[in-house]
Amino acid sequence: LQSSLIDRVAAAGDLETLEQLRVQALGKKGELTQRLKTLGSLSPDERKEAGQGLNRVKEALNAAIESRRGDLEETALEARLAKEAIDVTLPARPAEVGRIHPISQTWEELVAIFGEMGFSVAEGPHIEDDFHNFTALNIHESHPARQDMDTFYLRPAEDGSRKVLRTHTSPVQIRTMLSEKPPIRIIVPGRTFRADHDATHSPMFHQVEGLVIDKKTHMGHLKGTLTAFCRAYFGIDDLPLRFRPSYFPFTEPSAEVDIGCSREGGELKIGPGKDWLEILGSGMVHPKVLANCGIDPEVYQGFAFGMGIERIAMLKYGFPDLRIFYETDLRWLKHYGFVP
Ligand code: PHE
Repeated sequence: LQSSLIDRVAAAGDLETLEQLRVQALGKKGELTQRLKTLGSLSPDERKEAGQGLNRVKEALNAAIESRRGDLEETALEARLAKEAIDVTLPARPAEVGRIHPISQTWEELVAIFGEMGFSVAEGPHIEDDFHNFTALNIHESHPARQDMDTFYLRPAEDGSRKVLRTHTSPVQIRTMLSEKPPIRIIVPGRTFRADHDATHSPMFHQVEGLVIDKKTHMGHLKGTLTAFCRAYFGIDDLPLRFRPSYFPFTEPSAEVDIGCSREGGELKIGPGKDWLEILGSGMVHPKVLANCGIDPEVYQGFAFGMGIERIAMLKYGFPDLRIFYETDLRWLKHYGFVP
């Protein structure tokens, strides 16, 4: 009995078989257990001898099971280690690298260039009231600019007033002049909204506003600042600029700024050339606007400007269509996006 059991234990191929053998021999109904139970029917002498014999078998069997279990566990561990081994020589899978959206990139460039010129960044709410978006900027109730701007209106309040999605970043001029004392030198990059949608217009777009208020500020400061900005932004030292008379209710005089370019064979190239391209609106802050904000126009003057971020990004990086900015097409971002 002993040697046959021990042979079977030694031959057990896995832990499960080994456990079955243990139960067969030593379990409650096991062979050995049964035999130990029959000892009671023997005479005392026989019982002693048989009992000792059976106990020796039991010990030997237990030892054999433990030793086999140790071997099997070790083999199992080795097999698992081999299976889970990592091949550190395999080339890594390519990791997706995040991209900076061209709007964010352009925004950061603007902040950096104007930052070097001493401008700080100001912000204001996207939902504006009539006063900040229009009235304080000298755009009266009947002013055509209110229609021109394709304003998004919110549902009227009980008193009949209607908030708007700001149509430009200019209301932040008002907010800043009302809350800060001159000298003021800020830019306002931010979202703006107009009900307009085609290849060059989106209902949500971005502008950057600029405002400088100080004593003895004049048109020369406006020209110098915008010339320096345009040349730095496009990276063209001799980029020509043209200041063309224009009209905005909140500036007087007003000027639109064109930059030099050439159009050959339908291709637009920014730089010295025989053509012009409009890129921003500007002017000296209207005395009425200063007065609306409690600033004495006899003491302080200033200039302001505003431009579309998408527009200047399209010009610099050559994007043909504005709508692609908002289509969250990763293939486009991969092509034009900026790796941090
Ligand atoms: N707010 C004007 C626009 O959206 C731009 C502008 C800003 C013009 C400041 C002059 C001065 O068209």
